[in-house]
Amino acid sequence: MKRTLRIAVVGAGLIGRQHARRVLGRPHLQLRYVVDPYAEPAGVPTGPDTALVADLGQALGDVDGVVLATPNAAHREGALAAVAAGVPVLVEKPIADTLEAAEEIVTAAEACGVPVLVGHHRRYSPLLARAAEVIASGAIGDPVAVMGSALFRKPDDYFESAPWRTGPGGGPILINLVHDVDALRALCGEIVRVQAVVGSAARGLAVEDTAALTLGFANGALGTFIVSDAAASARSWEQTSRENPGYETDEHEDCYHVAGTRGSLSVPTLRLRTHPGAASWTEPATVTTVAAPREDPLDLQLEHFEHVLRGEAAPRVPAREGLQSLRVVHAVAQSARTGLPVRVPTDPPAARPAAARSEQPPVPRTGVDDHVVDP
Ligand SMILES: NC(=O)c1ccc[n+]([C@@H]2O[C@H](COP(=O)([O-])OP(=O)(O)OC[C@H]3O[C@@H](n4cnc5c(N)ncnc54)[C@H](O)[C@@H]3O)[C@@H](O)[C@H]2O)c1
Repeated sequence: MKRTLRIAVVGAGLIGRQHARRVLGRPHLQLRYVVDPYAEPAGVPTGPDTALVADLGQALGDVDGVVLATPNAAHREGALAAVAAGVPVLVEKPIADTLEAAEEIVTAAEACGVPVLVGHHRRYSPLLARAAEVIASGAIGDPVAVMGSALFRKPDDYFESAPWRTGPGGGPILINLVHDVDALRALCGEIVRVQAVVGSAARGLAVEDTAALTLGFANGALGTFIVSDAAASARSWEQTSRENPGYETDEHEDCYHVAGTRGSLSVPTLRLRTHPGAASWTEPATVTTVAAPREDPLDLQLEHFEHVLRGEAAPRVPAREGLQSLRVVHAVAQSARTGLPVRVPTDPPAARPAAARSEQPPVPRTGVDDHVVDP
């Protein structure tokens, strides 16, 4: 007989409410607390045993796990409080608003041995997992070039309802691109170099609405990526993957394309193009569609968190992984400020989980590197 686990969802905003509804929907989880000093009780999902409180400290002694869905700048305080109390925490992405705060969370989690998961929920997507398997299988050869986009238009009231989204750190680099960075790392390995330009002309806010970047991967592949929350296109993961019914969708578009020495894969349609003989633009190619189920990765992430709380699994995206994706987006922001390419720092091999160590060959040096800035 499974013990029912008590959960506190902290921050009852856009995503916190989605987490709260999912906790209510799982048979062996109890939504014990919703913590939010500002939320109107009327709109907050609750169950028969849920208390709405203003401070995480009121909940920590009485829960088995915390889902932290506060604005980015509050992640540090909430995550450190949960870790200090020995309570595992699923912290929304990005792990924190600054690298210093993220490093503090990593250090505390690892020192105390308290599981911290970062909410990069696409890692639970069967579509992304299948795409990563296809690339790792060598079906497209060695990755050469990666194209990606996160083009979508957020409604205007998204910015009016939460002013933190209109200032530095509230834009699509830290809020959205960090998801794609994490997904591209899962598909093609570490991103070790970036260069970016940003614009804010479409919305005229203090925060960027659009960014264009180039990426250098540790395996030598190069990439381009464009993100905008002001572009009325469907070329984003949310709209093309069709995993979340809350978004308008388009089954014909892709958001990533990975081209290798022997073929290419479009994601998330999983249209795979390979050459049965010699790989050349004059030789015949075979086009297939790889099958993968479509499931809600937020549900799967919560299921995984439950396994972590029961001691049955280690976090699939631990704090250190969240830190690495944050390093990439910080390098993007730094490059956008300076106009220069920026090298992304990585952990020394000894600090990385054993499974990840072999994934990171030495960074190939090219002529481009002569101008790279170390942060
Ligand atoms: N995984 C995803 O797809 C996804 C989607 C949206 C947002 N997010 C992330 O989730 C976090 C929240 O984003 P959002 O869009 O839901 O924000 P939001 O502004 O809609 O909600 C934040 C909530 O936190 C509350 N809050 C603020 N300070 C608090 C504190 N100290 N303690 C408790 N509650 C506090 C606010 O009152 C608000 O209700 C951000 O880190 C964001 O990047 C993730």
